[in-house]
Amino acid sequence: MFARRNEPDLRGNPGIQDSLREALRERGGQVLMYGDTGVGKSSLLKYAAEDEDLSFVSVECFSDRSFEALMEEALRKLIDVREIKRTSSRGASGEVEASGGITHFLSLKGRFKGDVSKAKEFEVIQKSPLEALLDAMDAAGHRLLVLDNFQNVTADRDRLLVAQSCELLADRANETGDKKLVMIGIADDARSLLGASASVARRVAEVGVPRMPDDEIREILERGFALLNLTADEESLEKLVFYADGFPYFTHLLGLHVARRLSRLATSHVSVEEVEASLDRVAQQVEESFGERVRLAAEKGGEVQPRSRIISLMAASSGREWRGADVQAEYTATYGSARDFAFLHAALGALATESHGAILKRTGSRGAYVYKFRDPHMRPFLRVTHFTPANEDTKGDRLEPRAARPPPRDS
Ligand SMILES: Nc1ncnc2c1ncn2[C@@H]1O[C@H](COP(=O)(O)OP(=O)(O)OP(=O)(O)O)[C@@H](O)[C@H]1O
Ligand SMILES: [Mg+2]
Repeated sequence: MFARRNEPDLRGNPGIQDSLREALRERGGQVLMYGDTGVGKSSLLKYAAEDEDLSFVSVECFSDRSFEALMEEALRKLIDVREIKRTSSRGASGEVEASGGITHFLSLKGRFKGDVSKAKEFEVIQKSPLEALLDAMDAAGHRLLVLDNFQNVTADRDRLLVAQSCELLADRANETGDKKLVMIGIADDARSLLGASASVARRVAEVGVPRMPDDEIREILERGFALLNLTADEESLEKLVFYADGFPYFTHLLGLHVARRLSRLATSHVSVEEVEASLDRVAQQVEESFGERVRLAAEKGGEVQPRSRIISLMAASSGREWRGADVQAEYTATYGSARDFAFLHAALGALATESHGAILKRTGSRGAYVYKFRDPHMRPFLRVTHFTPANEDTKGDRLEPRAARPPPRDS
């Protein structure tokens, strides 16, 4: 079901999948991928690596996993470890000051897993976990070490060790057979993941993964439905693409719940009615707090309800960020002009506060504020719940966010 990704990356460089492939090919180059959760970062890496015929070993980063623990975890994915003796020493060349020293393997013995290697036995003596891992990767034919969910590596010490590993791998590409670190993390920018060191930045290609364009989202749906022998009408596909809001994650979720529903009903045609009837299930899969945050944000009554109107305008809009003036223009287009728009700017500011659910995030300075959804999954949530202000009965749609009501019984 994988849809090839041809759109520009977050910095506007064309052809994200191809530029990632180039980065993976570049001798000595390390790679950092960043973007919102659910935009398809991990999948993109997997497919770009496959395109390049590069096999990889991937580890999940958790906040309580030290750098050495990550290396050891990767190693254990390749080796059935039989014997392990560790020692901890102060950083030999003082690279890692103060905090804890670096673990070395005094000895480590085991057997390669699977059938990947001609060598069956693996043994290292007095090596750092990184060196041991590189040896094992070499013998097993892996070129990439993927540190996924890299945003969870938060300790300065561990980040420093990763940064140093990037430098080491970049500078010793000939000795290591050009092994690469690929760091993948949820972030708005690369700097917040890897810091601002110029010497690291020089060695690391940064690939910002954006939302998927609608045509690619559509391709996922069409392929998925075809695989399940389902047909879908044009209007249903358009709705599904709108609800997915550029997230392959939501695309799969929507497709899954629609397909399940059809299977229960023993029909094979995706209609708007069935799409709509599947949305409650999708809304239940977002962060539990979303419904409550939207309730905090929306006015309970009153004639104008500017906060609710702003939210519903943003939910329907194709923009990702808005200045005050943009919101005012969209508001005017839908609700007509007002003599004084101070109420609208006040409402906008309120939507960024905790007491109103912190739906929006505000950046920039006074007079030049920029707003966007604090949580990127908020908009697909608003879309699938058909959020509208409580005083607007649009086409008989529901007056309250759907998720604000108790979950429906299975039909
Ligand atoms: N190009 C694609 N074509 C089809 N499906 C995709 C594509 N990219 C991602 N997906 C699907 O979308 C879902 C989310 O993708 P993925 O896990 O790669 O996102 P992510 O950015 O790594 O998310 P997270 O930040 O939560 O780790 C997965 O079910 C994946 O299979
Ligand atoms: Mg991922």
